[in-house]
Amino acid sequence: MYEELDLIQKEVSTCTKCPLCQSRHTVVFSDGVPNNKLMLIGEAPGYNEDMQGKPFVGRAGQLLDKILESVGLSREKDIYICNTIKCRPPENRDPSPSEKEACRSYLDAQIRILKPKIILLCGKVALTSFMNTPLGISKLRGQWFDGPYGSKMMPIFHPSYLLRNPSKEVGSPKWLMWQDMKEIKKAYDLLNETEHTE
Ligand code: URA
Repeated sequence: MYEELDLIQKEVSTCTKCPLCQSRHTVVFSDGVPNNKLMLIGEAPGYNEDMQGKPFVGRAGQLLDKILESVGLSREKDIYICNTIKCRPPENRDPSPSEKEACRSYLDAQIRILKPKIILLCGKVALTSFMNTPLGISKLRGQWFDGPYGSKMMPIFHPSYLLRNPSKEVGSPKWLMWQDMKEIKKAYDLLNETEHTE
C-alpha cells in the first residue's frame, strides 16, 4: 500500500549523506504499522536500535511500549514509529544540526507519504525539528499544534527522561505523560469514529 515508503527505506539503507554512515551498524528507518493516523517521531537510534535496525527497542523503547499499552495502543496495530535521524550518533550524543539537515528529507518523505493526522514529537530533538521556539518540552508537552499536511502535533516527554524520573506522583513527568497519552488516545479514537461514519 505504501510502496513509495519501501523505496525510500531502500534508499536510506545505503545512505552516505553524513559521517554517521561510517560508524553505524544499521540504518534504523521505522517500526510499527505504516498508517495515516498516528506517527511518533523520536530522537535517534541508540546502541540496541543500531544493532537491531528498529527504533525504540532498548530500555526507553520498552517503556514506550508500556506507555502505549496503558491506553490500549500498540506498535503492532496502531502506530508508525521513526526517528528524527536514522543513524546512531556515537556515544548517543544529540544529533548535530548538519546531521539533522542531511537526514531531513527522509523524515519529510515519511510524513509526506503517510500524511498522519496525529504526530507525536517525542523529546526535545523532535520538538525543535518542527517548532522554532525557545520553550522546552516541559512547557509545550500536552498541547496540540498545527503540523504538516493538516496534522495535529503534540510534543510529549521522551521515555528516557521518564526512566530518569520514575515518580508517579500527581504532577510528576510520568503522571503528566499519562494525561497526555489519554488525550492522544481520545483524538485517535475520534479519528477512527469519524472514519466509520464517513
Ligand atoms: N531513543 C530514541 O529517540 N529513538 C530510538 O529509536 C531509541 C531511543
